[in-house]
Amino acid sequence: MCGIVGYVGFREAADVLIEGLRRLEYRGYDSAGVAVRTPEGLRVVKRAGKLSTLAEALEREKPQGTLGIGHTRWATHGPPTDRNAHPHRSGKLVLVHNGIIENYLELKERLEQKGYRFESDTDTEVLAHLIADHYQGDLEAALRAALSEARGAYAVVAMHEDEDALVAARTVSPLVVGLGEGENFLASDVPALLPYTRRVVFLEDGEMAVVRRDEVRVKDLAGNPRPLRVTEVEWTLEQAEKGGFPHYMLKEIFEQPWALENTLGGRIHEETGEPVLDLSLELSRFERVHLVAAGTAYYAGWAGSYLIEKLARIPAQAEVASEYRYREPVVDEKTLFVAVSQSGETIDTLEAMREAKRRGAAALGVINVKGSTITREADDVLYIHAGPEIGVASTKVYTAMIAALTLLAIRLGRLRGTLSEAESRALLHEMKKLPRLAEATLERAEEYRRVAAKYHQATDYLFLGRNLHAPTAFEGALKLKEISYIHAEAYPAGEMKHGPIALIDEHLPVVVVSPKGPWYEKTRSNLQEVRARGGRVIAVATDGDEEIRDHAEEVLYIPEVHPLLSPILAVIPLQLLAYETAVLLGRDVDQPRNLAKSVTVE
Ligand code: M6R
Repeated sequence: MCGIVGYVGFREAADVLIEGLRRLEYRGYDSAGVAVRTPEGLRVVKRAGKLSTLAEALEREKPQGTLGIGHTRWATHGPPTDRNAHPHRSGKLVLVHNGIIENYLELKERLEQKGYRFESDTDTEVLAHLIADHYQGDLEAALRAALSEARGAYAVVAMHEDEDALVAARTVSPLVVGLGEGENFLASDVPALLPYTRRVVFLEDGEMAVVRRDEVRVKDLAGNPRPLRVTEVEWTLEQAEKGGFPHYMLKEIFEQPWALENTLGGRIHEETGEPVLDLSLELSRFERVHLVAAGTAYYAGWAGSYLIEKLARIPAQAEVASEYRYREPVVDEKTLFVAVSQSGETIDTLEAMREAKRRGAAALGVINVKGSTITREADDVLYIHAGPEIGVASTKVYTAMIAALTLLAIRLGRLRGTLSEAESRALLHEMKKLPRLAEATLERAEEYRRVAAKYHQATDYLFLGRNLHAPTAFEGALKLKEISYIHAEAYPAGEMKHGPIALIDEHLPVVVVSPKGPWYEKTRSNLQEVRARGGRVIAVATDGDEEIRDHAEEVLYIPEVHPLLSPILAVIPLQLLAYETAVLLGRDVDQPRNLAKSVTVE
């Protein structure tokens, strides 16, 4: 939440900052601002609303200078106004911040007594004044002193009118240094750096960096030098662009065949018929698996828990990360804790992992973003390899997560002897077809679009699915509500009779996820129960299932696929249903209201 950019070098800082913020706007878009050191002193330009408003303002009055910081905000303290937008200033010092300073009221009171005047409602302005209060000609020392008094989560970048450097620090919230030639960068995430460099340093928790035009120094918060761990990122600029699609979300939906190919690439051993996961954790020693995640990643984890129990016969449970941490989970060294996350930065998931580790569990991250905090703190990582996902609504990473978790389930099954070599080989053989089948599913986009248009004025939706498709139903409902703002509920299909059936009338579209598989008959009965009560059934069904047409108003067909792999295809029509509905309603698909891609506050 909140995106930060910093630049020092030879280019116009304002241009670099706006370009970087454009690539970080997915992290928050309540307001945006930049500060540039100009020959006349620091100039701050900030505006409530989207980045485009700030960009227009900068076109009229661009501050000239080659040192600057920028910020795009997801509001925590104080409404999204010009006043509350970052950067925040204290005399000759400016600051951008991502995170929450928990003891800001106490610090504010103290600073007010000393005569500091506050212009905003934010916790960040407190930090700006606190650093200024400690400043005695050395920004690095002042930031260090200020942070020793602050509690909470932060990634901060500060600059001072009298110094040629950017000074940054992080605890919990992410921060990356980009290394250039005669220029250096700071950003909350790699896409902001891609137009300029792929050589980066991921700052660790409790580290700070002093970034000058020709030099980057990393230290801990006590001032001790730390090594510069340079990583070459694989993502390309093209991957982080829209590539001719009107929205990132649509581009990412259509990238699913490629993403699946990448997730599976090199992980299926042709001769032995085994998944090759390259993990150092000794998987055979675990007696239970906890899959913990948030939002879409949680639904992928939920599907993963069913797959692990089915294929490996080991108790596996999925849980929402924000609950897990505070309920004193029963965890020991026989527990494999699987943190599932696109960003690898979600605070709920990260804190749940820390809690499980404290209690003795071993942590495996199933993560998309390399170098993210969870990947650094987990004992081992199974990368998803789906490429950058920019759209706030997660799509390609969901299907790729399930593919990665399926590989994990097969591996566990082989180690525990619950899955024969022949079964493993057969399932992996089916998995190799997934990219092509995903492509065949996407070829029906026009038909899914027609169905979306028919129902796009509905005010409520119900999604139902059984067993492995309960998560599909929940994910379909989440996609629809987060980008179209239509109220959508999801239930395991069998649970419908226990309450939600009362909602059904002739106005309610009910999406029933019912591809062929062991749960088909039972789900079809639920579908008929909806139909008998006048509900408008939209079924997701397997090619060739003509009978289902008698019970559904519309059918979204998907290609035939192994039942255990069907969640990977069945969600695709639901992603497109949500996308098309949101477009028809004129919603901002890539930047839905109130949301941020990476949720780094609890
Ligand atoms: O980065 P993560 O996968 O940990 O993010 C988890 C959720 O915040 C995320 O999936 C969220 O629910 C998305 N908006 C879903 O589209």
